[in-house]
Amino acid sequence: MPNATRRIGILTAGGDCPGLNAVIRGAVKSAARLGSEVVGFRRGFEGLVDPVTYMPLDTKNTSGIINRGGTILGSTNSGRFSARVGIEDRQDLDPELFAEVERTMSQLDLCGLICIGGDGSLSVAQQFHEHGIPVVGVPKSIDNDLSATAFTFGFDSAVACATDAMDRLHTTAASHDRIMVLEVMGRHTGWIALHAGIAGAASVILIPEIPWTWENVCQKILERDTQGKRFSLVAVAEGAELPGGGLVTREDPTPGQQVRLGGIGQIVARELEERLKRETRVVILGHLQRGGPPTNFDRALATQFGAHAVRLVFERRFGEMVAYHPPAVKAVPIQDAVNRISRVSADSAGVVAARALGVSFGEYPPNTSPVVKSLRDTEERPARPGGPASLRSA
Ligand code: F6P
Repeated sequence: MPNATRRIGILTAGGDCPGLNAVIRGAVKSAARLGSEVVGFRRGFEGLVDPVTYMPLDTKNTSGIINRGGTILGSTNSGRFSARVGIEDRQDLDPELFAEVERTMSQLDLCGLICIGGDGSLSVAQQFHEHGIPVVGVPKSIDNDLSATAFTFGFDSAVACATDAMDRLHTTAASHDRIMVLEVMGRHTGWIALHAGIAGAASVILIPEIPWTWENVCQKILERDTQGKRFSLVAVAEGAELPGGGLVTREDPTPGQQVRLGGIGQIVARELEERLKRETRVVILGHLQRGGPPTNFDRALATQFGAHAVRLVFERRFGEMVAYHPPAVKAVPIQDAVNRISRVSADSAGVVAARALGVSFGEYPPNTSPVVKSLRDTEERPARPGGPASLRSA
């Protein structure tokens, strides 16, 4: 490869999400126009260390991927760099790994590394930066739980998928006078449930940030009966806590690994059926929210992120991360995005508007607006005019 001083590495780490390929394409195309080459590492950070696995990327092999889900580079959320998740205390990497990464970068003559990842992966990138490895970050997540950026790409696609599911459940629920419960992802935040719940006309939205009671949920469904609406849609975030407290998880967490949430939808459906003596069904949307093509919003955002990340490398602004501050794409320190998460504020515009329409969050006590603080941080974000995310505006 000629022009080695301007060769850039890129990788996708952690769970996949729609838009990763659009970032890769955006970075490769813009780098090519600046006379630079790009090397893609396979399977996230793992590709950087023994056995080093990479592929040269060019405008040919990244052509036609802007609308393709997943990542052509592959990714993993297990292995030697795994589980450095944001709301838990930082776990330091094995120092030997830094030496290996430095060796790989020097052997391939890389002048910088673009890491596309969520809070855990960006926390690894931050540690790279602290060890003098020239890195820039690109924030991704369907959960939209990253601080320091108004939106992560992947979120809009996940909301589109969940909203489509709500629309489909709506017609069958109405035909059979049933309660339909839709469990969506989001980890410890309710962004997907809130946005899909509003867009899909849910009567009840249950999110981790707002404590709720069975009585209040039932009350809302019974209230609809009095209006002649004998069906109801309930959107529940996988990370919502049960009224008695506690998260619903798939299994006991493996030490050092991230807990796998899921299953609260079934509990909600069973309890509502028993309490209301009403036919209830549940759908757990799961990884459908992570697969498939990105929405046009995510394609555009991811492309901008890719091009901007290349510019940061050229300007040697290492330790920084691209961030969306509508209408601009800016750079912020990676440090600002890790070890904290962004959660829905209970007095945010989306929650307030939904309440104004009569949507119930099952709050305890009812009809109040407790401002729930995040585990480490709570942010209100600016509006995205014209898009579903503008529901979040103040
Ligand atoms: O962070 C994205 C996410 O899809 C969460 O919403 C979900 O809890 C988790 O990842 C599932 O991860 P896994 O890839 O381990 O199934």
